[in-house]
Amino acid sequence: FSEFLVDTFGRHHDYLRISITEKCNLRCRYCMPEEGVKLTPDEKLLTTDEIVRIARIFASEGVHKIRLTGGEPTVRKDVVELVKRLHEIPGIDEICMTSNGLALHRKLQALFENGLTSLNLSMDTMINGKFILITRRNGLSAVMKSLRKALSFGTLKVKINTVVMRNINDDEILNFVELTKDHPIDVRFIEYMPFDGNKWSKNKMVAYKEILEIINAKYPDLTRLQPKHGDTAKMYQVPSFKGRVGFITSMTSDFCATCTRLRITNDGNLKVCLFGNEEVSLRDVLRKGASDKEVLEVIGKAVKKKKAKHGGLTVAELKDRPNRPMILIGG
Ligand code: GTP
Ligand code: 5AD
Ligand code: SF4
Repeated sequence: FSEFLVDTFGRHHDYLRISITEKCNLRCRYCMPEEGVKLTPDEKLLTTDEIVRIARIFASEGVHKIRLTGGEPTVRKDVVELVKRLHEIPGIDEICMTSNGLALHRKLQALFENGLTSLNLSMDTMINGKFILITRRNGLSAVMKSLRKALSFGTLKVKINTVVMRNINDDEILNFVELTKDHPIDVRFIEYMPFDGNKWSKNKMVAYKEILEIINAKYPDLTRLQPKHGDTAKMYQVPSFKGRVGFITSMTSDFCATCTRLRITNDGNLKVCLFGNEEVSLRDVLRKGASDKEVLEVIGKAVKKKKAKHGGLTVAELKDRPNRPMILIGG
């Protein structure tokens, strides 16, 4: 494994998250401010060739998994071509996408045929009125359509991401668990995290222990599963169920010690931690005509500056330190 992708805490980064657009067809409250975000001029965004080159450089050093994020990745016009080209890179064996599902059903067949191996679908509610409240748009039936389509392939791995918000969707926890009865899906409950413009407060967040208690009360035989390399989620299963239930506990029980991730923003910055605001522009380095080796040196330097956890902040400090809004990070 390449020394460039190992940090000073010995963490090997073999998973690259690439944000391919800052645009989105929903307006989720936990992700972006009501007024939206200022869009970056086109010439500052990574081109498809630049994304593929960056991915190649990372793959040559040991990255085997790529996740496309956004904004909403399906909004990017050439998303299918991008998946196809990433799939051709030697060493890349997982191409994943995190999508809100709104327009996904139209492109999913092509994405799957061109190499998409796994899909994480953001779905915070199964009630229409609440969907509109959370996303400020209509569209739950389209999201459900994407979910059915994703499951119909049989070999596409499907996870559901549910950000749990107090008094908004915390009464639907058991309904989501129910989904895992007959479908081989991972439903992952996510602790609400603070980002710029999302008006986070501690009392809107529901800690995973509380969610776990609710599930345990109904399913006392809920069983903890063995942790897997690089997992963000603590995974559980109701023994007779086909799917599994997980908890992404960034706020109450971080998993930074086993972090495997690096991020590329849509404007070409390498972001070594979700919560860290130190970024370095790979786009500028590429556009100066740098060789792969020179790009790698820039990457290596940034990786060595990665902090032990949460960008060097305590959980209490996260909400006051400027970062990007979530929509400009991609999760
Ligand atoms: P898998 O690759 O399937 O494990 O998905 P993932 O959890 O890496 O990615 P996804 O985009 O589905 O994100 C789910 C939730 O986990 C979102 O709330 C992300 O913000 C959060 N998340 C993803 N990666 C990290 C990370 O490195 N650190 C923290 N704290 N949260 C993360
Ligand atoms: N806290 C936790 N998770 C979030 N996501 C977006 N914003 C937040 C937040 N503030 C999740 C989305 C998506 C993933 C990329 O990140 O639900 O599934
Ligand atoms: Fe890794 Fe930063 Fe996420 Fe911790 S908060 S798991 S260090 S990206």
